[in-house]
Amino acid sequence: MPHSSGRHFLQIPGPTNVPDRVLRALGQPTIDHRGPEFARLACEAIEGLKIILKTSGTVVIYPSSGTGAWEAALVNTLSPGDKILMFETGHFATLWRNVAVRFGLEVDFIPGDWRHGVDPAIVEARLSEDKNHSIKAVAVVHNETSTGVTSRVAEIRKAIDRVRHPALFMVDTISSLASIDFHHDEWGVDVTVGCSQKGLMLPPGLGLNAVSDKALAASKSAKLPKSYWDWEAMISLNPSGFFPYTPATNLLYGLRESTQMLLEEGLDHVFARHNRLAEATRRAVTAWELELLCLNPEEYSSSLTAVLMPQGCDADEFRKLVLQKFNMSLGNGLGKLKGKVFRIGHLGDFNELMLAGTLSGIEMGLALAKIPFSKGGVTEALDYLSSP
Ligand SMILES: Cc1ncc(COP(=O)(O)O)c(C=O)c1O
Repeated sequence: MPHSSGRHFLQIPGPTNVPDRVLRALGQPTIDHRGPEFARLACEAIEGLKIILKTSGTVVIYPSSGTGAWEAALVNTLSPGDKILMFETGHFATLWRNVAVRFGLEVDFIPGDWRHGVDPAIVEARLSEDKNHSIKAVAVVHNETSTGVTSRVAEIRKAIDRVRHPALFMVDTISSLASIDFHHDEWGVDVTVGCSQKGLMLPPGLGLNAVSDKALAASKSAKLPKSYWDWEAMISLNPSGFFPYTPATNLLYGLRESTQMLLEEGLDHVFARHNRLAEATRRAVTAWELELLCLNPEEYSSSLTAVLMPQGCDADEFRKLVLQKFNMSLGNGLGKLKGKVFRIGHLGDFNELMLAGTLSGIEMGLALAKIPFSKGGVTEALDYLSSP
């Protein structure tokens, strides 16, 4: 490939742009992971993460992708044959279901149209039918990265409480953490699943679980096989700053730095920034007369926007052209959305001018690809962003 000058626009919904400050932190010399300097680093990184997760409880960090953290949530809390309630909100919810099935869990997978989030009323109805409490866990993807739809976690918690069901509540925050408000403790989440390469502004390589006391108690009798993912060894060593196996030393330098940056900006400001950039993006899409995949405005995602291509237009051909012409990567359609949508990532280390460039690249790409659309989306977004 010939050299492309200027900075690549990485506008997929994760991995996201890694800020220079984090890149410099990652570039420090690797140190002895059994020495005192590392212990300090690990404790500071875990404490920072707790603030982001809004928890005073236990947080476990793995050298893994998000998929590992999914597996850890299940194998630490459940036993073969246990029933789990899951929801087909999109590609990632389906993949998490597949992990549960592979471990011999009995999954009640509520079908969905990939354009809506989890309906709290369905959670309530399903759990109220379960009189003998055979459902051991309810698992929800907070922000479905394949569709740009955000489920209402606080309302789902209330639905579980209304029927006083004791199931564990598990939430995948992989593309919401540090981009969309989330409260592990206040919302009564038992296991939160997260990873490094999205709102935390890091490269891929860290997976995480935040764990409630109820989930810890469940882990004492959980019978699914586990070794690498076992919380127990982590939890016994972490307080002293150590890990049961070699941790991702340099990613922890990055995590300490990125959580520091998020806290310097202020989490409320971080969420407001994401909301604003997402709204500007939707205004551009509407002005282009293209269709948003998400159908419920209450569930619009502040991390990404998935855009439906007009009938007969191939989203992957469009993405290829935008990459070739403008050195920008857009997210592809996943699973049954392949070729039908493109996804605009607007999460992580991102601001107004980066969004202006992103939307400009899309508008020029739509024209070049001869996609039927109306001009003016960029102007619409700029007007919104420059209004007082
Ligand atoms: C919502 C969600 N869950 C899970 C995953 C899987 O994470 P990973 O690809 O890091 O294993 C992803 C990846 O993008 C995701 O967006």
